[in-house]
Amino acid sequence: MSDNITIRELEFVPLLSEKQVQDRVAELGEALTERYGGSNPLFISILSGAFVFASDLMRQFRADCEVGFVKLSSYSGTRSSGSVQTVMGLEKELKGRHLIVLEDIIDTGRTLHFFLDHLRGQEPASICTVTFLRKPDAAEFPVQVDYVGFDIGNEFVVGYGLDYEGIGRNLPGVYVHNE
Ligand code: XMP
Ligand code: MG
Repeated sequence: MSDNITIRELEFVPLLSEKQVQDRVAELGEALTERYGGSNPLFISILSGAFVFASDLMRQFRADCEVGFVKLSSYSGTRSSGSVQTVMGLEKELKGRHLIVLEDIIDTGRTLHFFLDHLRGQEPASICTVTFLRKPDAAEFPVQVDYVGFDIGNEFVVGYGLDYEGIGRNLPGVYVHNE
């Protein structure tokens, strides 16, 4: 396995190797091909973190498919839940489509909870959610999760699309902050 790394004075230790990641992504691709092959699903990648996962997973999907990208921005300071989000960039018609939503990581579940609500309003034929990582101990919002790459502890991770202050997205494996 690879060595520890340092990003802006924080130390990270290896958690998942490139091979572990790629093997799991291939399994997920196979499962999705079995379920959605022939229905031309629309992959929706949530930016920025999920772009690496989306890129690899799509290439393990062995049938026709499309991809779209969406950026979610949150505004704090509202009275109720403390966060309202807007959706930018999703210009495709979703009505009647089979949607496969791709996330890099589910932490509290806030991002996906909100976004799924938004998608349901567009009358898609179906919605499936796939997250590369999930932190079960951090869950606060109920979310439908159909496929999970790996469950991890409630710790900060970088690599494979995930960053610390913008750095680390290009790492082929996943590293966890060593506290
Ligand atoms: P929620 O709480 O909405 O969080 O489920 C999901 C978003 O939070 C970010 N996040 C992380 N980013 N390492 C990161 O680089 C982490 O350990 C981590 N935990 C949460 C991420 O942007 C994700 O989409
Ligand atoms: Mg980030």
